[in-house]
Amino acid sequence: MSRHSVILDVDTGHDDAVAIMMAAASPEIDLVAITVTAGNQYLPKTLANTLNVCSELSIDTPVYPGMTAPLLRDLVPAPLIHGESGLDGPIFGPCAKKAEKEHAARFIVDAVMSAPPGTITIVAVAPLTNVAMAIKLEPLIALRLSEIVVMGGSMRAGNVTPSAEFNIHADPESAAIVFSSGARVTMLGLDVTTRVVLTAERLDFLSRLPGKAASLFSASMRHYSAACQKYAGECPALHDPSCVAYAIDPSIVQKKFLNVRVECAGALTLGRTVVDESGVSGLAPNVYVAVSYDADRFWPLLEASLLKYRG
Ligand code: RIB
Ligand code: CA
Repeated sequence: MSRHSVILDVDTGHDDAVAIMMAAASPEIDLVAITVTAGNQYLPKTLANTLNVCSELSIDTPVYPGMTAPLLRDLVPAPLIHGESGLDGPIFGPCAKKAEKEHAARFIVDAVMSAPPGTITIVAVAPLTNVAMAIKLEPLIALRLSEIVVMGGSMRAGNVTPSAEFNIHADPESAAIVFSSGARVTMLGLDVTTRVVLTAERLDFLSRLPGKAASLFSASMRHYSAACQKYAGECPALHDPSCVAYAIDPSIVQKKFLNVRVECAGALTLGRTVVDESGVSGLAPNVYVAVSYDADRFWPLLEASLLKYRG
């Protein structure tokens, strides 16, 4: 695997926190920056959570604050799952990490336009507001990026409505901008991310690993697991970390190049990713949609990441 440059875009919440741990620890990833948007909670909270995770684990990657709300809509956060803080569960000490002054969207444009073409990948595990704003600031980044990996959408059922997944539903207009930008977009939707299930047994095993990351993982995931069981009636899926694992080893998924549009007006279907599996629309494919995920290969990657912080 070649080492490649990644900008991780988050709305730190519980699974985002694990995605940060994995991306910062992976030898296959040069984590250039972490950009933060509103999503699971309001930006002050998602930014504080991101800084706390980085401070706790001495992750020196620069953190850039981004958009405070979706492009055209009010933010509807997810306190039932992620809590009032957005990362309920862990108790952090004093935060030694400061955010950068530059806006995330401006940073993304400057970083992509100054790097050689095809060398930077954005892994977006949040509503796509920062990424869309960067594309609107400088459309050329779409063609200079190596890939935009999106945790979002689904080919079938949603998780925040029967039709829509949270990240896309939160800001469907931004998703439509990203999906139609001409960038190489890879979508890991609920169809595949829900195969990465943190069972009680796995949580217990990973919680017993040595080091600060395992402790933070345990405190975060015990809250997340209880909330998912209580409000979603399911074991927690590690949606965001599954996208980092794809960035580490793209062969972990199988993809199909399909036409994907985003519903931005439907009363019942707002935020749905309309994936044309059969080509019936006659529209050109624009997104690489993950259709299978080798979840067995995920867990060793996560374990290795947590152990990297045991010093
Ligand atoms: O639907 C799952 C996504 O919504 C994840 O990115 C989670 O962090 C929330 O943002
Ligand atoms: Ca997220």
